[in-house]
Parts: sequence; C-alpha cells; structure tokens
Amino acid sequence: MIRTSLLLLCIALSTHGINAEEWTKLPDPVLTAAHDYEQNCVCEPLVMSDQGTNKYRMYYRSGWGTTAVGVAFSDDGKTWERYENNPITPPGDGLGGMQPWVTNDTSSSGFWYLFTTHPDWTSGVTIRRSTDGLTNWEVVENNLSSPDGVHTYFGNRVMWKEDDLWCLLQEVGDMKGGVWEIFLYTSKDLKDWAVRRNGKPYVELQRSANSMYGGPSFETFNGQVVGKNETGYYNLYYHAGSDGNLPTDIYRASSVDVVGGEWTVENGGEAILMHSGNENKFDYDQVADPSRINDMIFYDGDNNVNATCAIGMSKKKT
Ligand SMILES: *[C@@H]1O[C@H](CO)[C@@H](O)[C@H](O)[C@H]1NC(C)=O
Ligand SMILES: *[C@@H]1O[C@H](CO)[C@@H](O)[C@H](O)[C@H]1NC(C)=O
Ligand SMILES: *[C@@H]1O[C@H](CO)[C@@H](O)[C@H](O)[C@H]1NC(C)=O
Ligand SMILES: *[C@@H]1O[C@H](CO)[C@@H](O)[C@H](O)[C@H]1NC(C)=O
Repeated sequence: MIRTSLLLLCIALSTHGINAEEWTKLPDPVLTAAHDYEQNCVCEPLVMSDQGTNKYRMYYRSGWGTTAVGVAFSDDGKTWERYENNPITPPGDGLGGMQPWVTNDTSSSGFWYLFTTHPDWTSGVTIRRSTDGLTNWEVVENNLSSPDGVHTYFGNRVMWKEDDLWCLLQEVGDMKGGVWEIFLYTSKDLKDWAVRRNGKPYVELQRSANSMYGGPSFETFNGQVVGKNETGYYNLYYHAGSDGNLPTDIYRASSVDVVGGEWTVENGGEAILMHSGNENKFDYDQVADPSRINDMIFYDGDNNVNATCAIGMSKKKT
C-alpha cells in the first residue's frame, strides 16, 4: 500500500468484477488490525512456510503512520495467530516497519535479513539481521539510494539470491509528478548496492499511461523466495494502477532475464486480482503487495480514503 497524504492523486472508482480468471478472493480479510499500534492497518504480507512447525509464517506491516513489523502463524492460511512478542520491531523506532521483506537464505552468513523502508521514505532502506528471524535484530549499514536522482521514495521490494549475488527488485517513486516504478539492484554483501539496467525501470510492467507499478514479489517454496523456476522463468507478482497511483490491481508477469530482458505480463495483460471499488469492503481502492505460496496469494486490501487496510487471501481455482 501507499500513503494517502502523498499519493491521493486521482481515485477512479471501478466496477470491475471481483476476479479475472484463475483466482478466487475470500470475501473477508484473514488478518485485520486488532491492537492500538496497528492503527487500523495491517498490510504488506510476506508468507513463507515455517518448516520447524509445519505452519505458515507471515511477516507484515502494522500501522498506517507509525509502523512496525509483525509476525503471525497459521496452519491453513485462513486463521492466523500473532507471534506472542509482536511487534518484532518497535513502533516509531526511527528505522521503519514499512514494506517488510525477510529472507531466510542463511547459507552464506547464518543470518536472516529484514528490509524495511526508512520512515522518512527517502533515506533508502533499513537492513537488519537476526539469527532466528524474530529477535535481536541488528542494523547493517548500506548505501542503497535513488536509482536516478528523480525516483527518491522507497516502497516495496523482493530480494533473492542468485549465484553469489543478492538481487533486489525495488519499488521507488517519483513524487514530483511521476509514479512508483520497479528497479533492479544487486549487491555482493548487502552493504554496497549497484543499480542495474542503467538505472531504468521496467516500463513494460506499466498497465496504463502515467500509472504506478510496484509491490514486486516472487513465489516462496519451502520457506524461501525463489527467483528463477526450474524452467528458467522468473514469475513476478505485483500491483499496478489504471489511473496514476490509485486504484491498483494485482498482475503476474514472467521473464527469462531480469537484467537484459523484459517482462511479459501474463493473463493477456489483465489483472489476476482486482480491487472491489466498494467502500463497504476492505479492498476498496487497492489490492496490493501480493505474496504467492502454494495455491494462495496473500495481499493487502486498502481503503486509502479512510486509512484502513487488512490482509486478504485468494485461492487458485482448481
Ligand atoms: C528457513 O530456511 C531453512 C532452509 O531452507 C529451513 O530449514 C527453515 O525451516 C526455514 N525457516 C523458516 C521459518 O521458514
Ligand atoms: C554503493 O557503494 C559502492 C561501492 O562504493 C558503489 O559502487 C555503488 O555505486 C554505491 N551504490 C549506490 C546506490 O550509491
Ligand atoms: C516456470 O514459469 C513459466 C512461466 O510462467 C511456466 O510456463 C513454467 O511452467 C514454470 N515451470 C515450472 C517448473 O514451474
Ligand atoms: C469514509 O468514512 C466516512 C465516515 O465513516 C464515510 O462516510 C465514508 O463513506 C467513507 N469513505 C470511504 C470511501 O470508505
């Protein structure tokens, strides 16, 4: 999701049906705000399998203005129980809890890494590491910064490891008349980051002129996000606008080369999940920030007018 005060540009109500072809949304959210610090907003889910317990584990953002990172566990993806020591980062700690991305690839360093957006949106990304993914997070200094000096507001991201390189698809917004777009960065050590593709975003992901595209993620398998699948394709889930930065719907795209190649938007270029346009529903003007695992996509449904969000789930039709 994105913050209203910055981004409430043009809201076009949509009367589209709930779904395109292959996914069915559950009518009600699977996680809704329940604590004061959550400020009517839980969003930006990342769901992985929690192999130690045979459950699913979700990382998510708590809070609309002052943010923190929460964790919840579930057996079936529908009923979630919050981690007893939530939130795992303190609200208002100056480091930010927005757009959490966690990697459980501990192969090289023994650490889990947590990426969040700095609370001022423009000072890049806070990277923290922990040995168990829940406690004792320590900050890793890094130099991730604007890809082009024009896009300066950081948003959602997906990070994965390929050979010895950490790869990052990062949403960065141009708030001076532009929109949110997705860029590629790489790093060998998570500290020094280089923007790739000559600092150019993937414009082919855009669905309408002058409209945003962001919220990138790949599917998780066995608790880890996988970039390329067995046949050499990256399968990207993301959200994009039809008229500026809002409203947004969820799309899927594939590519065989994220550095030199392009994305093909699947499903004939149509959304796979759509916002409801109904102010009595949680996903009034956004479905965003998809996280795919098994036959489920988790996402946030938002009402940017009244500053509420909740986490929804959709199931693949069989
Ligand atoms: C993290 O990944 C490792 C290696 O795949 C796995 O053994 C472990 O269970 C995972 N932990 C969680 C919480 O997903
Ligand atoms: C980060 O530092 C490295 C090494 O000094 C440099 O090559 C890279 O361009 C810097 N990255 C950014 C995004 O400024
Ligand atoms: C990999 O992704 C491509 C593109 O979406 C898909 O056609 C193919 O079936 C996938 N392969 C596997 C092994 O899942
Ligand atoms: C926002 O909240 C107000 C007051 O509850 C309500 O009248 C209005 O319909 C809501 N708007 C939307 C878009 O949800």
